[in-house]
Amino acid sequence: MKILLVVGARPNFMKVAPIMRALAAKQCHGSPEICLVHTGQHYDARMSDSFFADLQLPEPRYHLAAGSGSHAQQTGRVLTAFEPVCERESPACVVVAGDVNSTLACALTAKKLGIDVAHVEAGLRSRDHSMPEEINRVCTDAISDILFTTDTLANENLRSEGVPEHKIRFVGNTMIDSLLANLKRALACPLPEGVEAGQFVVVTLHRPGNVDDPGALGGLIDTVVEISRRAPVVFPVHPRTRGNLERFGLAGRLDAGDIHVLEPQGYFSFIGMVARCRMVMTDSGGIQEETTVLNIPCLTLRENTERPITCISGTNMLVGTAPANIRTAAHAVLDGRAPRGSVPAKWDGKAGQRIADELLARYSVPPSDRAVCHVQDRGAVLQPDAVLSTPGGVL
Ligand code: UD1
Repeated sequence: MKILLVVGARPNFMKVAPIMRALAAKQCHGSPEICLVHTGQHYDARMSDSFFADLQLPEPRYHLAAGSGSHAQQTGRVLTAFEPVCERESPACVVVAGDVNSTLACALTAKKLGIDVAHVEAGLRSRDHSMPEEINRVCTDAISDILFTTDTLANENLRSEGVPEHKIRFVGNTMIDSLLANLKRALACPLPEGVEAGQFVVVTLHRPGNVDDPGALGGLIDTVVEISRRAPVVFPVHPRTRGNLERFGLAGRLDAGDIHVLEPQGYFSFIGMVARCRMVMTDSGGIQEETTVLNIPCLTLRENTERPITCISGTNMLVGTAPANIRTAAHAVLDGRAPRGSVPAKWDGKAGQRIADELLARYSVPPSDRAVCHVQDRGAVLQPDAVLSTPGGVL
């Protein structure tokens, strides 16, 4: 038995690392073999390699080098490259995480080959079909055999779509496993020069809806510049955003404020900044969850979120993308009127273990079959008991 775990883009790494670790810790005879596949959707050292190092992910057995491109090109390249991997490895299950193009492509490839698909972070819904991630979520969930969910609202979404109860496993949030496991190391990272703990604002922007249109991006940058006059801003810039700032001639506008423009940060460094900042402004998905656990106020610069639990229970506020609304909300937080939150159920650092338990229960070879498999390898079939008593046997 074999399980393939797939990573492809930056947010996948912290979601899959706790599962890898838990599976490795629980390995015993009869456990499935674990094989890591990197699709290469993200490939820059700062978007990929540094996360492998920080999260101590093993070298992937396969790197598919899918790279960037249009949605069809990127998804198609992963589909084509992943199929021979599945054929060669014949896994019992392919585990995909999140909502990136690699998630859907690998789920689709596996399912069409008759391989079980397990989706980590299933059931999140923004109901916004203009977001590529929403298409990826809905399609991946529709063909998954095991749907590992992070919160109770995700369970409800799946039930309302007719997903049978036996497929849904409410396990918690593996991204939070990574956060809790690495927080101490993250807090040991130095802050950017010139900013002090508790004083600064962290900004991230990378959603196509916010950064691919010059008017939208310009409006957001001007708003960030204005807010930076009240509290210094630290802005690690995603490659998509950096490219667009340059292409649209907007990069120079950042000089008008107190903004520390940084390259994409490693995992420890980024989490260390978020944990010590005064407020986050972001269009990311995962950061809405991380700020909820860290009890840091988060303004989400989007019109909707697939993670409403972070607004209901946590410190997240969905403020939209209109500059006036962002400004009002940001000044309210900086004036001390920030939402107080609580941590959603099962965001306790043990989601990876729950997922590993479920996968091992389903895909380990039962002891009776183990004996037969072992002996068949040697060209004979004996009764299990006879094999178990073999001195020095591997059973
Ligand atoms: C992808 C995910 C998004 C996720 C985000 C996290 C999809 C549809 N989108 O968006 O859900 O939140 O990752 O970062 O899967 N680039 C580089 N180096 C890299 C990777 C990308 O320079 O290592 C540049 C390229 O110009 C590329 C652009 O960034 O065209 C966008 O990359 P892509 O993977 O298409 O989407 P993201 O915006 O990163």
